[in-house]
Amino acid sequence: MQELETLSSPADIVSETKRLLYIESYGCAMNFSDSEIIGSIMSENGFDYTQNEFEADVVFLNTCAIRDNAEQKIRDRLKHLKNNKRKNSDLIIGVLGCMAERLKTKLLEEEKLVDIVAGPDSYRDLPKLVAEVENGNKAINVLLSREETYAEISPLRLNTNGISAFVSIMRGCDNMCSFCVVPFTRGRERSRDPQTIIQEVQTLSEAGYKEITLLGQNVDSYLWFGGGPKIEYKHLTDEQKNSSVNFAQLLEMVAVVNPNMRVRFSTSHPKDITDDVLLTMKKYDNICKHIHLPAQSGSSRILDTMNRTYTREWYFDKVKRIREIMPECTISCDIIVGFCGETEEDHQETITLMQASKFIFSYMYKYSERPGTLAQKKMTDDVPEEVKSRRLSEIIDVQNKISLENNLKMVGKTVRVLADSYSKKSKEDLCGRNDQNNMVVFPKANHQIGDFVEVVIEKVSSTTLIGKSIV
Ligand code: SAH
Ligand code: SF4
Ligand code: F3S
Repeated sequence: MQELETLSSPADIVSETKRLLYIESYGCAMNFSDSEIIGSIMSENGFDYTQNEFEADVVFLNTCAIRDNAEQKIRDRLKHLKNNKRKNSDLIIGVLGCMAERLKTKLLEEEKLVDIVAGPDSYRDLPKLVAEVENGNKAINVLLSREETYAEISPLRLNTNGISAFVSIMRGCDNMCSFCVVPFTRGRERSRDPQTIIQEVQTLSEAGYKEITLLGQNVDSYLWFGGGPKIEYKHLTDEQKNSSVNFAQLLEMVAVVNPNMRVRFSTSHPKDITDDVLLTMKKYDNICKHIHLPAQSGSSRILDTMNRTYTREWYFDKVKRIREIMPECTISCDIIVGFCGETEEDHQETITLMQASKFIFSYMYKYSERPGTLAQKKMTDDVPEEVKSRRLSEIIDVQNKISLENNLKMVGKTVRVLADSYSKKSKEDLCGRNDQNNMVVFPKANHQIGDFVEVVIEKVSSTTLIGKSIV
């Protein structure tokens, strides 16, 4: 799941008696979705939103710990928040999310202006933590849960365009990829009650939303069997098996809520994605034909040390199967360069995997060692920084070429776009994505944000398709 652009809370109707909360979200879509749960919990407890951090009574930073630079960004942000505290000494500052979970009390010791440290499973406790600070104490809750899914909480839609929304279907991750901090910051995998998911999707549909994205670190291992910590399917009782819901079944339940509402999901894991999921995608027109399928590396040797539990050949088989079932389906990827022990040959294998798989886009990163992970404990971060940088720029070049080639094939074709914003360059142009998740820009003409528009593609760059609407 890619990192999203940092957003702050929206302006809202501000009543005079209520206190004001400002939230900033960092990291992946899960965190942005969590901020909407936090918003809901706080609004039930006497808080209104402000977009102006300087008038806030409480500032929450919902943080990411995936790479060192993600945490550095938060440290820098905290330095700036000193000014806010200088202007308002009663200001309460909370650090939430993955960095809070990773550093726990250390964060209170190292960053003196932080009042609250709260991990991803403790958000129901936030009003109490705020009260504790008002009584003159620092407050912390970093307990991870094996059950919490915030299932029945109706998220307060922050920063919404009223068109697309995230719907969280599970929490945590049991995979233990050796480079990754997520299992430590978000705890064990657990799935959310499908009835509450459907209810949320229904509410979004009634509110006029046109697209939802189902979220989980590994959506293909979604399995509901009545709640509680994850149990492998084979270990369920017959009764549990009969009433269980897997990801393919959930996807179908979501797709039929409103055939005019687009359904996306992220992230798929190459070891877990099944034919059932692919066949369900094929069956429903409103399930978008795009799969984010992070490979991380193209070398089986590195995949093994990463503990990804699949090989290069397995990955290729999955790509082949996707294309057999849905020839039009696009695939995108995450890649890490410079993982422990990565040689030039391994790096070349990553390049050839990218070329053969023809990803529409990739999120590409230099390996960043994370404290507590298996790689940090058992392996050596031995690829020099300048080699990591060079390999990263090489794969970025490779991806740009592939993207341009893919996009050139779209010239002359007509695509259906959900307009979700104005183009960054001009208010005369609308911007949106087609089913396959290509970014498309076209002149506004009579169309509005929120419309589905048929656009014929006239020219392309490596990142964007540019065209004209045909009605
Ligand atoms: N659950 C998703 C990934 C979530 S993290 C999956 O399994 O694919 C998002 C991406 O961050 C990962 O896919 C990986 O490419 C990258 N990432 C994770 N840990 C990293 C690290 N230590 N250094 C660099 N990139 C990392
Ligand atoms: Fe991290 Fe691997 Fe889980 Fe993704 S699947 S969140 S990379 S441990
Ligand atoms: Fe997401 Fe960052 Fe946490 S990527 S799960 S917010 S470590």
